[in-house]
Amino acid sequence: MAEIVRYGIIGVGMMGREHLINLFHLREEGAAVVSVADPHVPSQQAALDLARSFNWPVQVFSGHKELLDSGLCDVVIVSTPNMTHYEILMDIISHPKPHHVLVEKPLCTTVAHCKKVVDAARKRPDILVQVGLEYRYMPPVAKLIEIVKAGKVGPVRMVAIREHRFPFLVKVNNWNRFNANTGGTLVEKCCHFFDLMRLFAGANPVCVMASGAMDVNHKDEIYNGKVPDIIDNAYVIVEFDNGCRGMLDLCMFAEGSKNEQEISVVGDVGKGEAFVPESIVRFGTRTAGRQGVQTIQAADQRIKYDGLHHGSSYLEHLNFLSSIKTKGAQAPAVDLGDGLISVAIGVAAQLSIERRRFVTMEEVICHEE
Ligand SMILES: NC(=O)c1ccc[n+]([C@@H]2O[C@H](COP(=O)([O-])OP(=O)(O)OC[C@H]3O[C@@H](n4cnc5c(N)ncnc54)[C@H](O)[C@@H]3O)[C@@H](O)[C@H]2O)c1
Repeated sequence: MAEIVRYGIIGVGMMGREHLINLFHLREEGAAVVSVADPHVPSQQAALDLARSFNWPVQVFSGHKELLDSGLCDVVIVSTPNMTHYEILMDIISHPKPHHVLVEKPLCTTVAHCKKVVDAARKRPDILVQVGLEYRYMPPVAKLIEIVKAGKVGPVRMVAIREHRFPFLVKVNNWNRFNANTGGTLVEKCCHFFDLMRLFAGANPVCVMASGAMDVNHKDEIYNGKVPDIIDNAYVIVEFDNGCRGMLDLCMFAEGSKNEQEISVVGDVGKGEAFVPESIVRFGTRTAGRQGVQTIQAADQRIKYDGLHHGSSYLEHLNFLSSIKTKGAQAPAVDLGDGLISVAIGVAAQLSIERRRFVTMEEVICHEE
């Protein structure tokens, strides 16, 4: 029998419950959810119903402090609205009892808050922190990463990511309708894509140029007298310090799209592409030309639960659980530095749209308050 690792989930809305179900599918590896914290009674109830169906007796709290003070957990998952991550993370990191943490993306909504969390965590080597940037585990994305990292496309020059999808879903108390709560669309959801760009480029960003607006969605919605202010489409160009260029094409009124994500990585030697949810990868070289392009159906037999993210959040847990079991000898795959930079690129892109100019990473990392 595997040693039991006791989890608490802070925030059991849509994503928190996906974590709960993932952990149930990891019970044979030792995962057990022992408590949840959420002030919203319908979310508590939905989590309790799930836990009961798994035969897991779960202690319910309305706030994260009670959960931490209970001493029940070895690991906590932070899956609350973005604007709450900072305060909750600081409370976890400063708590006398060490809790390992999986924090949902974005790490925080501002660079200044991300930096404070990174600094505080540095003083707690007894705590492992992983950031929930799990798109890298989606089977077609993971396959493309493998191809690129094996050098098959040569030195990477261009990374283009297109996300064409449906509008933002309705969330508890509509927190995701305002930049002040989310950090802005390019932080909130696109930190995933900036993280992938960095991974493919194998480099760090230097500057960002973006154009975007709220042109179609949410215009007829009003919350407490205010119309939402979140953009629903954008183009973002990122320049990296090794000369590689990244481009994001985001459209959130594109339900008529076969794939939600299309990724293209081109190097001196060849080109690789990944398509989600078709789960297809294509790879070809300049010398073999169009006739030589291979099409691969990507799958990962380890996935026991697909959830809403094609099994990637299951694999994220599998990975974090092994870091915990090896007591950090195997470092968390996505660390606080990755979380910070993915937010910083999003912040730079939001600022570029506002100021209508290139924004350097130095500007947002050194000076943003
Ligand atoms: N990694 C991914 O692919 C992915 C996908 C969706 C959402 N997310 C992230 O997950 C987080 C939650 O998003 P969601 O879609 O589940 O939202 P949600 O609105 O469905 O759920 C959020 C829950 O947190 C609760 N909550 C609010 N403040 C709290 C607090 N201080 N303490 C405890 N609970 C609190 C709410 O009552 C609600 O039940 C966000 O950071 C979001 O960006 C990540």
